[in-house]
Amino acid sequence: MMMKPVIEIKDIRKTYHVGEIDVHALRGVDMKVGAGEFLAIMGASGSGKSTLMNLIGCLDEPTSGQYFLDGIDVSDLSKNAYADIRNQKIGFVFQGFNLLPRTTALENVELPLFYDRTHRIRDPGSAATEALERVGLADRMDHVPNQLSGGQQQRVAIARALVNRPSILLADEPTGNLDSRTSVEVMSVFQELNAQGITILIVTHEQDISRYTRRIVTMRDGHIMSDEAVKKRLDAKTVLDTIKDENG
Ligand SMILES: Nc1ncnc2c1ncn2[C@@H]1O[C@H](COP(=O)(O)OP(=O)(O)OP(=O)(O)O)[C@@H](O)[C@H]1O
Ligand SMILES: [Mg+2]
Repeated sequence: MMMKPVIEIKDIRKTYHVGEIDVHALRGVDMKVGAGEFLAIMGASGSGKSTLMNLIGCLDEPTSGQYFLDGIDVSDLSKNAYADIRNQKIGFVFQGFNLLPRTTALENVELPLFYDRTHRIRDPGSAATEALERVGLADRMDHVPNQLSGGQQQRVAIARALVNRPSILLADEPTGNLDSRTSVEVMSVFQELNAQGITILIVTHEQDISRYTRRIVTMRDGHIMSDEAVKKRLDAKTVLDTIKDENG
């Protein structure tokens, strides 16, 4: 049985207009995600995964349909209220990390707090420190991105997404730029955060990566084609130990 849904989408459609052409990126999507779930969104290139993530993340608005985020109908919020709800409830992680160069890990993680008009979090420095500790980077706070490995940069990006204490973490291809071992490390961070109660949605092309989540939603041509629980879920920590053993 599903707990109270944190995400509830009803007949969402998104049509982009490019010159004379209408691109139907989402053609009526219904979806419910309960608190504490961990989903992988899969599907071919162009099937609408990023479009769906951007709508869920309140980065973009649907052409039609309804979206309830934590029970709030976000469809008819003002621009400011929309931005506030995004800042408070949602954390984003992108494929390319999107960190500022020549800026320390700590400063990168603090940044979203300065954009939060409500200033809910009083002490950006300690909130950022805590977020970096959660992803295991307490000893790298003063490093700038090019002094960090790819996996560490992605963990800084995850810490930045966590600093607002969101209830939902969204990640579009978070392991797309990482080698397989580093990808498993990042999945290990996600599994740990999920175990602490954060709802997580990731987009991935990789079947292997989806097996670290709990539920796989597959899209095709702007529709949800299948929605299934993960069988034989992988535990990232165990897999990392196995890799270690293989390398002596
Ligand atoms: N800003 C935009 N303007 C016009 N068309 C767009 C825009 N963004 C996406 N599209 C189109 O909408 C469809 C869905 O795109 P989307 O980016 O959601 O796919 P995706 O599943 O994330 O693909 P990929 O795996 O390549 O990232 C595609 O046909 C795409 O060309
Ligand atoms: Mg995409």
